[in-house]
Amino acid sequence: MSAAGNIARAAESIREGKLVAFPTETVYGLGADAANAPAIARLYEAKGRPFFNPLIATVGDIAAAMKIARFDATATRLAKAFWPGPLTLVLPKARDCAVADLATAGLDTIAVRVPAHPVACAILRAFGGPVVAPSANLSGHVSPTTAAHVQSDLAGRIDLIVDGGAVTVGVESTIVGCFDAPMLLRPGGLPRDEIERVLGRQLARPPEDTDNGAGQPLAPGMLASHYAPRTPVRLNAERIESGEALLAFGPASLAGVGKASAVLNLSARGDLAEAAANLFSYLRALDGKGARTIAVMPVPHHGLGEAINDRLRRAAMGRE
Ligand code: TXA
Ligand code: MG
Repeated sequence: MSAAGNIARAAESIREGKLVAFPTETVYGLGADAANAPAIARLYEAKGRPFFNPLIATVGDIAAAMKIARFDATATRLAKAFWPGPLTLVLPKARDCAVADLATAGLDTIAVRVPAHPVACAILRAFGGPVVAPSANLSGHVSPTTAAHVQSDLAGRIDLIVDGGAVTVGVESTIVGCFDAPMLLRPGGLPRDEIERVLGRQLARPPEDTDNGAGQPLAPGMLASHYAPRTPVRLNAERIESGEALLAFGPASLAGVGKASAVLNLSARGDLAEAAANLFSYLRALDGKGARTIAVMPVPHHGLGEAINDRLRRAAMGRE
């Protein structure tokens, strides 16, 4: 289904409790009415996602976000600087928050974001309330950056896919927890240094075990192997062995490159934004090539490289 003219149908389907995939600037999301608990239960089921892993609520603007979450000065500053955009804020839930407890996995915090994609914005505007939008993939798979990826993971499990072409950012939103000290819970499509520049301070790191001491995970979805292809992934490859597929970055002049069974280059000119946009679709493509291993060249760690390396590290941990 193409985007033009189908916005109204998407909004109407969400109103009826259906599951609708649509593009955001980061990755495709799987939308459901955030206030409709049965719809959210079906969404968890369609993704094969554990109930303890809460969802992001997407809204059309800051005013709508303020109805479901409590903003302090830091949160307000970040929202004004970066929304709409690839930033998710984890905030205390507002007292009369309409979002179903199932969506927030019973936490007293909520993850909120205002996406910057014309299709997502139009659907949110037409629907008029918060829409939960986790990435539209089976739980544990890499996130979808095209409608075809959504189709291959979720066909038959969801009601509608709105095709808005390939996304532009390619990795999920950056998640910042607005706790006493603002904390980077997930590196993503908004580089850390841009956030730190606005805050005038560094973002705290989550504790290693991502447990807040009350037995609840700070970022429950950041399971070690959350982004795993089926083929084993080998990082920081300096040479290629036969039977390996190569995920390259920059000039691919490493030893044994001729032995690679398949090669895709995230960005031959070494551009991190281009690499982020290609990451998930190239991982999916190489995963389908029957290679023994996907060998990945090193990617610099600055800017969007932090998010790219985070997803690659998780991909390399393999399936649980
Ligand atoms: O770019 C994105 O954020 C995409 C697009 C579709 O919006 N969505 C996305 O959703 O990546 P998902 O469900 O794949 O990842 C949401 C992450 C999970 O790791 C989840 O654990 C975390 O957000 N999360 C949600 N609510 C939370 C909360 N209250 N506290 C901490 N982490 C939370
Ligand atoms: Mg996801």
